[in-house]
Amino acid sequence: MQVDRLWTNGRLMTMVPGAPGAPGLGVVEGGAVAEEAGRIVFAGPMADLPGDLDARDRTDLEGRWVSPGLIDCHTHLVHGGDRAREFELRLAGASYEEIARAGGGIRSTVAATRAASEDELVASALPRLDALLAEGVTTVEIKSGYGLETEAETRMLFAARRLADERAVTVTTTFLGAHAVPPEFEGDADGYIHAVCREQLASIAADNLADAVDGFCETIAFSPDQMALVFDAAQALGLPVKLHAEQLSNLGGARLAARYGALSADHLEYLDEDGVAAMAHAGLTAVLLPGAFYFLRETQVPPVDALRLAGVPIAVATDCNPGSSPLTSPLVALNMAATLFRLTVEECLLGITRNAARALGRLGDIGTLEPGKACDLAIWNIETPAELVYRIGFNPLHARVWRGK
Ligand code: NIG
Ligand code: FE
Repeated sequence: MQVDRLWTNGRLMTMVPGAPGAPGLGVVEGGAVAEEAGRIVFAGPMADLPGDLDARDRTDLEGRWVSPGLIDCHTHLVHGGDRAREFELRLAGASYEEIARAGGGIRSTVAATRAASEDELVASALPRLDALLAEGVTTVEIKSGYGLETEAETRMLFAARRLADERAVTVTTTFLGAHAVPPEFEGDADGYIHAVCREQLASIAADNLADAVDGFCETIAFSPDQMALVFDAAQALGLPVKLHAEQLSNLGGARLAARYGALSADHLEYLDEDGVAAMAHAGLTAVLLPGAFYFLRETQVPPVDALRLAGVPIAVATDCNPGSSPLTSPLVALNMAATLFRLTVEECLLGITRNAARALGRLGDIGTLEPGKACDLAIWNIETPAELVYRIGFNPLHARVWRGK
């Protein structure tokens, strides 16, 4: 058997669950990974390597740990400007909602994003992307939602797609036209939702620029009824949906998302028992975003015990955005998920690999070390997997492999 590349003497976190009911990281000591044409063709104990294996290129991992490349499944990486001034206002006592209602918040990033060219959006996102890649990210989801009209939403999604030409990374794009009501629709959220469905979404789907459709279901954004119209339009175009739900209050967004068979509901601090049951029943992934919880100094934590008990898969992401989570470290996000939300080390690591792939509807292609999947690897200088979650601001990445390279 001829392969392009072979890594030997590794300790693999395959993220393939063991016995039913035992989550686990699917650890293989003394492991090897073989790659051919960017795909994994073998991942398992060296002892099980095919005897006739001939590799064009060999790497001795010298006992290092190997995980699937990390997947940041919820970001707003592409945007104009920053919100440092708003941060100072919040330090002086203003709340996130007060700033949003006074026309700041998301709207101030909308003004900066509308004023930025596609080249400028790419250039300003690259350093943030590089920070993610430096910690082993090989797939990143990027949302629009700071253009709020067809041309600027399109420009954001083009910029997001272009990042994948600039760096060795997989980018998935999500259309988030229903993020906030733009100034020209002030007082007419229904009118804006109509424009999202009829104009923006139709045009973006025609250009094939979005892999999924998202919305912000919140008192300062859109109601479940308004989001239902967006989901109807998305599904008519064959696009999967997901939702920012129950972040600052409980509007029943997760139940709505479940009704539409969404990929995920994200944030979920105010999720109730009904919402958990609906998510479990419909097979949604819960994407937890501890960076936003931390940065907004929230106090209500998502119902992790109930999610666990119901068997809802949990993912963790940075939510990298200028307003509520200016976080470009997936490893710090894991530490926050453990420290603030009490996720276990295994839950954190599954949450940024296997379950993050699930939240993107890409578990068939990425998220675990299994034959047939993309050969996206993160190779770590650590003694135990827990170190990836335990440290704050230390990066033990040894090497990153995307599609075998
Ligand atoms: O995921 N919740 C809504 N959207 C972003 C924040 C947007 C912003 O403040 O710019 C989030 O937290
Ligand atoms: Fe978000």
